[in-house]
Amino acid sequence: MSKIIDGKTVAAKVLDECSQEIETLKNRGITPGLAVVLVGDDPASKVYVGSKVRKCAELGLHSRKIELPADASQEEVLAVVEELNEDAAIHGILVQSPPPPHIDEEAIVRAIDPAKDVDGFHPENVAKLALEDASGFVPCTPAGCMRLLKEAGVETSGAQAVVIGRSMIVGKPMALLLMSKEGNATVTVAHSRTKDLAEVSRRADIIVAAIGRPEFVTADMVKDGATVIDVGINRVEDASAKRGYRLVGDVAYDEVAPKCAAITPVPGGVGPMTIAMLIANTVKAARQSVS
Ligand code: GUN
Repeated sequence: MSKIIDGKTVAAKVLDECSQEIETLKNRGITPGLAVVLVGDDPASKVYVGSKVRKCAELGLHSRKIELPADASQEEVLAVVEELNEDAAIHGILVQSPPPPHIDEEAIVRAIDPAKDVDGFHPENVAKLALEDASGFVPCTPAGCMRLLKEAGVETSGAQAVVIGRSMIVGKPMALLLMSKEGNATVTVAHSRTKDLAEVSRRADIIVAAIGRPEFVTADMVKDGATVIDVGINRVEDASAKRGYRLVGDVAYDEVAPKCAAITPVPGGVGPMTIAMLIANTVKAARQSVS
């Protein structure tokens, strides 16, 4: 019997901790503020941005949603970032990824004040993560995965961990966190060019699937008793589903779950944690802005 790791419950706990700190900051006259910038009209991005802003409102955070048209220029996006860098009411800035293809995303990320980079994508924060400097911002999704492992009582120290995917948003920072002094895992990063991926992933005590392919991790890739963290959120067409699609992870849940000691579902696993960690990073940015 596998244990289902309930992301909603853990996210609620994180947000409860945040609420207490928001209260403390408000008593000092500081309301943490988050700005979310959306360029274009990618439907999934719209949903994510909407839920981030809604969560801010629920928790009494100040938030701004800035929507730019799909044909906005690089200069227009940079101008918005620069204005937000100067805005004292904004402690966290997030530019939703991916932007339209004509936008140079890396240049946008570099323009964000690192002290407001609650996504943890700025080179200064990437370096701080590698250096294990706690003043930096850790990308929300991998930070959420670490917290899920901790709350589920999964021992990472000494464990063989296999991260599938090497993105800057999830795979790379996840590997750094697992191998840090906090994680102490032995980490392998596998990706689309890895040979004998099934053989590599079968060695894992902990698998983090972040490859962005629906139901990519199948039962033959998972050893009995492994813990599986599924970062994927993929829309697959399904005529019988309400919206014409259903959401599946990067893990073939039904066949993998029976083999696992613990597994995250999709939805309701990693997803809620990403927003919770974003709020936590925004609160941290507000706190650090006055200390
Ligand atoms: N798109 C998917 N995940 C993320 C994220 O964590 N931050 C941003 N900015 N965009 C994303």
